[in-house]
Amino acid sequence: MIEPNTPARHPNPAGVQRIAVMTSGGDAPGMNAAIRAVVRTAAFEGLEVMGVRRGFSGLHRGELKLIGPRDVANTIQRGGTILLTARSATWRTEEGRARGAQHLRDNGVGGLIVIGGDGSFHGAHLLEQEHGIPVIGVPGTIDNDLYGTDHTIGYFTAVETALDAVDKLRDTGASHERIFVIEVMGRHAGHIALDVAVAGGAEEVFIPEDDKPIEDVIEIVKASVQKGKTGSIVIVAEGVPGGAQGIGDAIQAGTGLETRVSILGHIQRGGTPVSSDRILASRLGEAAVHALMDGVSGAMIGRRGGDIIHTPLHETWEKRKDVNRDLYRCAKRLSV
Ligand code: F6P
Repeated sequence: MIEPNTPARHPNPAGVQRIAVMTSGGDAPGMNAAIRAVVRTAAFEGLEVMGVRRGFSGLHRGELKLIGPRDVANTIQRGGTILLTARSATWRTEEGRARGAQHLRDNGVGGLIVIGGDGSFHGAHLLEQEHGIPVIGVPGTIDNDLYGTDHTIGYFTAVETALDAVDKLRDTGASHERIFVIEVMGRHAGHIALDVAVAGGAEEVFIPEDDKPIEDVIEIVKASVQKGKTGSIVIVAEGVPGGAQGIGDAIQAGTGLETRVSILGHIQRGGTPVSSDRILASRLGEAAVHALMDGVSGAMIGRRGGDIIHTPLHETWEKRKDVNRDLYRCAKRLSV
């Protein structure tokens, strides 16, 4: 069947008239695409949107302002977040949350969409529990560490950015016949590290989910030189004890080979979002507005397979999304 040119309006049994949207925690490429999707879906459905600046930090200070479809023009391709973001200590206090809730009520806001990671969802969950304000989470973090969605907004771009750096470091590493130990982001999760290890052809990868004896890695690096490899790449997720520096020092001491350490850091959070992040953000932002109109609250919108699904907010941090262990095995086989 051919789809009509203009989709039908979504039903609004919850009778929501005005919603708010914020970005919170670490920024991630594609957050702007998600804000745009929220604002434009709301406009299509006849709802008003207030943008909250600086996440929960701004909310308890009352930094809210009406935003419309033209305010999000030319933002789909921009990294960072036009609403600004923060990690708020005040939101951890009951008074801070009460002030934020009052600002939402004073502005006639019937639901809040929070684009962020698990810390931000905690904050949203408390707002709902303590003040009865409907909240919906949209997963926005480069770490991809949220249960309830295959991928988080920003993850695909962060992997591309890290991979670009790994390719460049490989050029110089191979030319000097050095070992390069490269640290990627991922405080508690090895998703970025595993993807980058496979796509970057790494010899070894360290992730926080695994406890790997450094002695084994020293032997692997020594063996790779004996096999005639001109350089080796070792990927380390930042959450691994000792980080890349500790592992690099141990490899240099254990192999006697010239080793360099490169910590990629916040560069992985910036830049133009790749298409997969923009598409994910657009779909999740749209679904978040519809969820509020349906009367859903206290849930994160995610995508599993091709389906848009809802997961209770607390499950997003209580249940663990494991890394793809097949990727780990694949990286090992291909580094033979
Ligand atoms: O947003 C997730 C993340 O990028 C982690 O990978 C990293 O550990 C952390 O944020 C860094 O946070 P901050 O911006 O506070 O330095």
